[in-house]
Amino acid sequence: MLRNRLADQWIHRLMKELNTDIACFQLGNSHVITVNSPEIAREFLKRHDAVFASRPETMATCIISRRNLTTALNQRGEQWKKMRRVLVSEVLSHSKMNWLLDMRNQEADNLVRFLYSQCSKTFKGEVVNVRTIAKHYPANAMRRMMFSTRYFGNGSEEGGPGFEEEEHVSSLFTMLKYIYAFSVSDYLPWLRGLDLDGHQKRVRDAVKIVNKYHDPIVNDRILQWREGKKTQPEDLLDVLISLKGSDDKPLLSEDEIRAQIMEIFLATVDNPYNAAEWALSEMINQPKLVEKAVEELDRVVGKDRLLQESDIPRLRYVVACSREALRLHPVAPFNLPHVSNSDCIVSGYFIPKGSSVLLSRLGLGRNPAVWDDPMRFDPERHISDHVDLAETELRFISFTRGRRGCVGAGLGTNLTVMLLGRLLQGFTWNVPEGLDKIDLSCEADSLLKATPLFAHAKPRLNPSVYMP
Ligand code: HEM
Repeated sequence: MLRNRLADQWIHRLMKELNTDIACFQLGNSHVITVNSPEIAREFLKRHDAVFASRPETMATCIISRRNLTTALNQRGEQWKKMRRVLVSEVLSHSKMNWLLDMRNQEADNLVRFLYSQCSKTFKGEVVNVRTIAKHYPANAMRRMMFSTRYFGNGSEEGGPGFEEEEHVSSLFTMLKYIYAFSVSDYLPWLRGLDLDGHQKRVRDAVKIVNKYHDPIVNDRILQWREGKKTQPEDLLDVLISLKGSDDKPLLSEDEIRAQIMEIFLATVDNPYNAAEWALSEMINQPKLVEKAVEELDRVVGKDRLLQESDIPRLRYVVACSREALRLHPVAPFNLPHVSNSDCIVSGYFIPKGSSVLLSRLGLGRNPAVWDDPMRFDPERHISDHVDLAETELRFISFTRGRRGCVGAGLGTNLTVMLLGRLLQGFTWNVPEGLDKIDLSCEADSLLKATPLFAHAKPRLNPSVYMP
């Protein structure tokens, strides 16, 4: 593993060479089972879901979750149950999301206003960096909903990120890179202190930076509630602080609040931005797809107002484009690991207790036995009477299903489709002058687009729509 640092790539290569849809790798004392076929994936997460509902404890999950205080990064047990319940009923419920709609709208409006200010200086439009805009939108929306602010510092004049927001988001992405990154010490725990691959230091540094921004706000807010200066929740931080247990004492400790906030940011920032950047890149290279999406937006939303979350159920094509990006360009090679709590036979294979099951996002989403011409970006393949981002049959990974399925599917869908939809509705997109096509290659060590999407944007709506 130290020699072949890109473990995910050699695992996929080996599975291809062996022409198999399921494989078992023994790493240290752990059995890591990788899966490329939806039939076998469903056996794990549908038929035997109860057995495979835990997670491994890794160096990074331990640091980030403050020793297993959170939901996604936690092993199965009472703490996971408690925190998952809090997220489902108190943080991400339909009523909470409605309560926070104005805050999300402010950020969706800021998104188009910021882009408009960059490309409306001349009537010809400008080449803009879509990645900066897309990457900060989910983080801005969550900062607003969590802390009632877009900025930790002063931001930039036109509504873009300042140094503090850049540092915040980039540290979250550093953590995401190392959470389940095949660190050697996760399989040979006695090596943990040595930090042979340098992951531990990078994770600790990133956590320190994010805490530098979160902690003062959280500490101050806890004090305000304690001193009775605050009595009514106004954002998600207030909600987390004011939750009461059956004994009328705070339900969550200060450390639980801090750790869960960090995890919520991690869960929010990557998928929507990655899907929107890839979808727009692919679509600019196939202008017919842009035409079709814009025709739908004009028909459903019109040109006199901006797309709203309530329009999403009627935007089958734009949703299909987002869905196609999740299939073809997942943000990570594997789903979060599922660990078994007993021996189990799955699809005829003996899977020992404690195995870590990795459903391959690449293997499923690009499986030629499931998808015709799998490398082609083709939203039409998803068109039916009802199109959404969920894929409970596991033909690719979006929110998965079962006990460990994503609890943020509603919010994730809204952030992803609003981002892509507003970029398409508000602006005409073209390849920058002098280039033939948008470059669609991936980074060498990840599935992110190798270069940020720079594209030519020109406003297509009346100026009053951008600046109400
Ligand atoms: C398009 C956006 C999103 C996508 C594609 C996505 C996808 C996923 C996936 C694949 C999993 C792992 C499921 C499994 O282990 O089988 C997951 C878990 C999870 N997601 Fe999301 N997610 C998105 C947005 C969000 C948001 C916005 C939140 C919350 C703010 C969130 C919170 C969680 C949590 C807490 C878990 C772990 C659940 C558990 O372990 O019990 N997700 N998500």
